[in-house]
Amino acid sequence: EVQSNLTLLENTYIKDDFTNVTDKIISHVGKNIHIKENHPLSHVRQRIVNYFYKCFVNSRGNPVFSVYETLPPTVTVDQNFDSLLTPKDHPSRSKSDCYYLNRDYLLRAHMTAHQSELMKSGLNNFLMTGDVYRRDEIDRTHYPVFHQLDAVRLKTKNELFHKDPTLEIFEVGNNTQSTGTQQKQACHTLEAVKLMEHELKTTLAGLAQELFGEKIEYRWIDTYFPFTQPSWELEVFHENNWLELLGCGIMRQPILTNSGVVDRIGWAFGIGLERVAMCLYKIPDIRLFWSNDTGFLNQFKVNCNENVTYKAVSQYPQCINDLSFWLPIDKEFSSNDFYDLARNIGGDTIEQIVLIRERARLGCLYAIIDFLGSNNVKYSPKQKDLKMPAPAPVAENGAPRTELQELQ
Ligand code: PHE
Repeated sequence: EVQSNLTLLENTYIKDDFTNVTDKIISHVGKNIHIKENHPLSHVRQRIVNYFYKCFVNSRGNPVFSVYETLPPTVTVDQNFDSLLTPKDHPSRSKSDCYYLNRDYLLRAHMTAHQSELMKSGLNNFLMTGDVYRRDEIDRTHYPVFHQLDAVRLKTKNELFHKDPTLEIFEVGNNTQSTGTQQKQACHTLEAVKLMEHELKTTLAGLAQELFGEKIEYRWIDTYFPFTQPSWELEVFHENNWLELLGCGIMRQPILTNSGVVDRIGWAFGIGLERVAMCLYKIPDIRLFWSNDTGFLNQFKVNCNENVTYKAVSQYPQCINDLSFWLPIDKEFSSNDFYDLARNIGGDTIEQIVLIRERARLGCLYAIIDFLGSNNVKYSPKQKDLKMPAPAPVAENGAPRTELQELQ
């Protein structure tokens, strides 16, 4: 049965010959894992945001960048391409590369899609972060949904040249028709472009150091984007490979003029969050970011600046068992005694043991997680069960259970 309507985030789209978004892709829309507490992507996002808050402050010490993290991923062809001067025949527009809702709407292929609307709203310094969608190969480093953080910084002549007010941003005649050279757009003065390039490159090299450490080796590669000129990629040397970290450049001036900005020059960049998180935390497979396995997620229950090295969790479905017992009053007991006992009997099939509660040394409740040897006794304690007072664990004959009975 062919359905002619598609409803997504409370909007209805009329399907046409461009519609190619699948149910599987739609199921990712709105998950917002980039702002999920203690998610590795959220940690990377927060570290980048904090870096910008620290680097750019006004005279009163307040951050100048505003941050947008929940802009809806459904955008128009105009937002994603036209407003960014992407040529009509550019391959990035093709149905084989994007997820179209119909001819006019698609799931954004980059966060840059929101540049124009935020400039129109009057912002001069802003960060935008969220989920982006691209049809691509399938391997451990590619997934059709991933996350980006984009930035825009616009500067007036006075902000740029406060040391020498005789300098100008724009060439006389302000020729926006001619496209210029790889070095600069025709409308910009060389002084303006060089100062902007310097600020952009110092900021981004500093970001690479913030993320990967002071000693990180990096290099700049000349490249092309429809929306910046000149354009560069920043690569970092990580584990014997040059890794493409981000794309950036001096914003093409017509994008600013079309958004009502006539007296400023801007720089912009976009960085993918997954690749950074995979390197920082040694996460081997991009699909793990979508995991709900607490064996994965709990490893990131840390401050975003903490160094975490991901330790592989079982690829089998998680199995949670809980266990409670009385403690003898006349004997010493430490949690480690129980961990040793469990390890001794359960061996390496036990992934983690969490102490839920210990009440006045009377009883406690442990949850043994991913005890693969006992896949047939799945029992996941519900949150309300865990909040109840510890039940006295008593065997059928009325006697408190022994340790071994509990583990069997
Ligand atoms: N949008 C580009 C990408 O997805 C990155 C970029 C953003 C490049 C802003 C330049 C300026 O690769």
